[in-house]
This record gives sequence, structure tokens and C-alpha cells, in this order.
Amino acid sequence: MTDRAPVPRRDDLVELTGYHSPQVEAAVRLNTNESPVPPPPAWYEEIARRVARVPFHRYPDRTATDLRRAIGALHGVGPERVFCANGSNEVLQSLLLAYGGPGRRVGLFEPTYTLHTHIAMVTGTAVVTGRRDEEFLVPDDEADRVVAEDPVITFLCSPNNPTGRAEPEATVRHLAASVPGLLVVDEAYGQFASSSALDLVADGVPGAERIVVVRTFSKTWAMAGARLGYLVGPPDVVASCEAVVLPYHLDAFTQMAGLVALEFRAEMEQRVALLREERGRIAAGLADLDVDTWPSDANFILFRPRHVPAVDVWRRLLDRSVLVRDCSAWPGISGCLRVTVGTPDENLAFLSALRESL
Ligand SMILES: Cc1ncc(COP(=O)(O)O)c(C=O)c1O
Repeated sequence: MTDRAPVPRRDDLVELTGYHSPQVEAAVRLNTNESPVPPPPAWYEEIARRVARVPFHRYPDRTATDLRRAIGALHGVGPERVFCANGSNEVLQSLLLAYGGPGRRVGLFEPTYTLHTHIAMVTGTAVVTGRRDEEFLVPDDEADRVVAEDPVITFLCSPNNPTGRAEPEATVRHLAASVPGLLVVDEAYGQFASSSALDLVADGVPGAERIVVVRTFSKTWAMAGARLGYLVGPPDVVASCEAVVLPYHLDAFTQMAGLVALEFRAEMEQRVALLREERGRIAAGLADLDVDTWPSDANFILFRPRHVPAVDVWRRLLDRSVLVRDCSAWPGISGCLRVTVGTPDENLAFLSALRESL
């Protein structure tokens, strides 16, 4: 033991805490917007077959060429427009490493996905914060105010986590035409919505060359455990991300698992259809309870108990082994909780536990 003082952290990170989503034991876990069901049995069988052929003594394909080609084919673009990483969080981090940093700013619209701000802070990037309106949409004048601050990246989360709505196409067009840098549309929940910013890129709208769409295998593809996300964007953005990312960052197993997942697209779409239906069932159930809710284009719903403090409701739900996300202290959505759409049985369990907890 020595009496030397601990090495101080970087001055600008002294206040920073890690990302916290409590991993509490509960029978019904509806707190992190994952798929409530695993990939189909045939996916596991195919993985087991192919894992035996992975040359684990070799470094993986550094540029993940096959996977990028397959993801590109899914979206009708070439591999030079696709960058893959360990979850979309690593994609966001790569963008911020490449384009953020001291003296640079990013713009975003709160309340929104906390990791956009978190990773900006970690990379020493300043954040210009815009506000969503009472429907949690981005008003044009607020978009203009943020854009006027000259952000190198403007983040638009659509459908927005934690509030659920997808941004109208007109807003994406407005931002694409006016951002001074990149417009990064985080579509982690894109398949649950009725349109994608990728449609605007394909249509060649003004500013299309500034649009970067970020997606993940963690939600609709039921692969949160493998950590795979990607962006579709201009080739120079892909090259910039490749320049900053660590060599061999995406391991051979994850690349293979992603390729196998893409062979199960029909099953993924069935899952999305089921979850959309179940989302409607939860929304209808919430409408009969003493809570305010907002419409959702994602696989979760934000709600606010009207007469019981949200933390008490969260605790009572947990006492009934139902875990939801406590967002009650988050700026802009105080008193709110967020529930992920689960299996039909889980959703029934949630609604009945919530009825008792209110
Ligand atoms: C909006 C949004 N973007 C990105 C992510 C990160 O997902 P992952 O890193 O698992 O791909 C999440 C996860 O919850 C999210 O909600």
C-alpha cells in the first residue's frame, strides 16, 4: 500500500457516471427495449453449425466485408456505405471520435436517448440542446435554433427513446436541408415506424448526402447479447469511422451471427408485427388506467401515473416482479415510466400489476 493520492480523472469527466439501467432480477423484464423473445431455433442451429468453422486463432476480417455487403443489400446500397460496430453505441462513439472533440459541438433535442450526450461528453464535445414540444416532436424553429449554433453533428432520434414518437418526414427533410454538418438519425427502433430517413436518402432530397442512419441488431433482430449495430451513410463518413475505430474491433463471432440473422428476415418481420400488435394492446390497457400516455412508433410506451408518485409505482411493480424503466427524474419527462412491449403474457402481467400498483 502507498499513501499516494489516486490519479485524478480528466477534469471535464469528474462528474461523469456510467450508463445505468438497473439490472434487477424480475420475472417480467420490460426495462431495456430488447426483443422479448430470442432468435428462432433455426438461427441457433445455424450458428452452432457455423461456429465450428470460425477460425478463432486468426484475427477477424477487419472491415467486416461480408457483413457490410449483406447489410448494404438489405438497404439497397453498396458495402462502402455501411460501417458496422459493437452495437449502435459504438457506431455513435465512432462518429463522435471522428467528428467531435474539443472546440466542436453536436446538437440534439431533449428529452432523448441519453447516450448521445454521454458519448459527446466522453469525447470532449460540447452539446447544444434543443427542446421537443409537448408532443415530444421537434418544432422547426427549435431545429433552426440548434442548427444556427453550427453543430458538426445533429442527432435526431426517431422513433425517439424514451418518448416513442417517430419524427414526421417533413422535420427530417427540414433538418437535412439546413444542418451545417451531418444529420445522424438514430433509428434503433426504425422497423417499428412506418418510414425511415433512408427513404429520403434514396429519394435524393436536398441534403440527402448529409444523412447518416444508425441502426441496431439489439431490438428487432433479437440480438442484444451479441452487440452489433451499423450506419448507412456517405462513403467518406464510413471511411472516417474506420479511421478512428480500433483494429479488429468487431469479432468474428459477431460478424457471423449478424450474417445468420439476416437470413431470418421474415421471422424478424413477424416479430415486429407481433410487437406492434401488442403495443396496441398495452396502449388500450393504459387508456383505461389513471395514467397519461403518449403515442408510440417504437417497442415501448412512455406513461405518467397521475396520482401516485412514479417511483412508488415502479417499486410496487417490482414487488410484483415486473421491471420497467424509471425515467421519473429525467429532464423533460419528470414523473414518467417507460414500459417495453413484451410477450402477450408479459404484457398482461404488466397491465394487471400496474392496475394494482395505481
Ligand atoms: C435510441 C437508441 N440508440 C442506440 C441504442 C444502443 O443500442 P445498441 O448499442 O445495443 O445497438 C439504444 C439502446 O437502447 C437506443 O435506445
